[in-house]
Amino acid sequence: MNIVKAKDYHDMSRKAANMISAQIILKPACVLGLATGSSPIGTYEELIKRYQDGDLDFSQVTTVNLDEYRGLPRENDQSYYYFMNEHLFQKVNIDASRTFLPDGMEADHEAACKKYDGIIRSVGGVDLQLLGLGHNGHIGFNEPGNVFEKGTHCVDLSERTIQANTRFFASEKDVPRQAYTMGIQTIMAADKILLVVSGEDKAEIVKAAFFGDVTPQIPASVLQLHRNVTVIADEAALSKCEGML
Ligand code: F6R
Repeated sequence: MNIVKAKDYHDMSRKAANMISAQIILKPACVLGLATGSSPIGTYEELIKRYQDGDLDFSQVTTVNLDEYRGLPRENDQSYYYFMNEHLFQKVNIDASRTFLPDGMEADHEAACKKYDGIIRSVGGVDLQLLGLGHNGHIGFNEPGNVFEKGTHCVDLSERTIQANTRFFASEKDVPRQAYTMGIQTIMAADKILLVVSGEDKAEIVKAAFFGDVTPQIPASVLQLHRNVTVIADEAALSKCEGML
């Protein structure tokens, strides 16, 4: 596991964009696994700048996102589909027909999971998977549990997550109760993994996930077993790892 120290969020985002840019330049028809949340927004902004400067071409890139809420239509401004369009897809020359997320509106949840795993297989797997890190060690919506879930699955959101998400919705009852997420096996099958993490509030979980035991109670800890992981963390996120790097 390669841990890269960044000065702050901006520096982390620049360094992450360097890696993603290198991936796209070296393999223009690559498959990127993408994440939502606040951690990758700066990375996407950097990628957009490079596209605007003429240094990056997304025309052959395929993307598969980690997760999507169940039951939210794409046009809902809290859907991850909406997020990705807002923060990346609409701002670069990517072919929309090659951008994939789980279908949050598929009524049959087993069919939705099967379909998404089929899509990931059909694009040939992921070359570079971008991840954020949840405060409890989740990656995608793979929450702490007793086993590492393998493929795409439907997750019941915890009360804590529902409460935390209420601020983005008109009222608590509008917050989705379930989400689809790529499984740990799919994430681990990516050729390269890039995790971005920033802020002192993540320092404790960074230490536990990357320097502690590998356990499904801290899903991100499984990344220690992957052969090509880069963690780009800012100084604040690494503040509890002094002497370990
Ligand atoms: C988002 C995702 C989540 C986030 C994690 C960190 O697609 O899969 O695992 O990466 O919750 O979120 P932020 O970056 O908002 O702290």
